[in-house]
Amino acid sequence: MSTPSVLFVCLGNICRSPTAEAVFRQKAKEAGISVGIDSAGTHGYHIGNPPDKRSQAAGKAKGYDFTGISCRKVAASDFEKFDYVLAMDKSNFENLKKVSEPAYHEKIKLFLDFADSTYDEVPDPYYGGKKGFELVLELIEQASEGLIEDIKSKL
Ligand code: 4NP
Repeated sequence: MSTPSVLFVCLGNICRSPTAEAVFRQKAKEAGISVGIDSAGTHGYHIGNPPDKRSQAAGKAKGYDFTGISCRKVAASDFEKFDYVLAMDKSNFENLKKVSEPAYHEKIKLFLDFADSTYDEVPDPYYGGKKGFELVLELIEQASEGLIEDIKSKL
């Protein structure tokens, strides 16, 4: 495999997927592997905006860096470009399948398929409180460990 690449996807690309991008950058660095990492949203409500302040607060409290991350919408070219297209929840997953050709469907997975967790989706924290953002971070950290192992097994 050439440099593996991962696109994290949620609805707005301001809470869950940018958090995954920041966390996974750090985890890949710690694991000493080179990975192309980006994030996008299935909807374009917040294009160009930085990650939500609440996501940044939860992530920065655990040492993650959100520098340079800004919101964009999933593009048709993403499905060819990325090896892993990882949805935060089942609604994002179904949306990604709808907007992509069947040839790319194998790349589209639920991110928490890589986590050893009772959760199978990363819950949308947008309308909730601080606890929701902390849960998002915890689930993303768990799935990131599993994703690192999966990528390493294919190198
Ligand atoms: P995200 O959270 O999908 O984790 O970025 C959301 C962000 C914005 C909205 C919904 C969810 N929104 O409705 O604007």
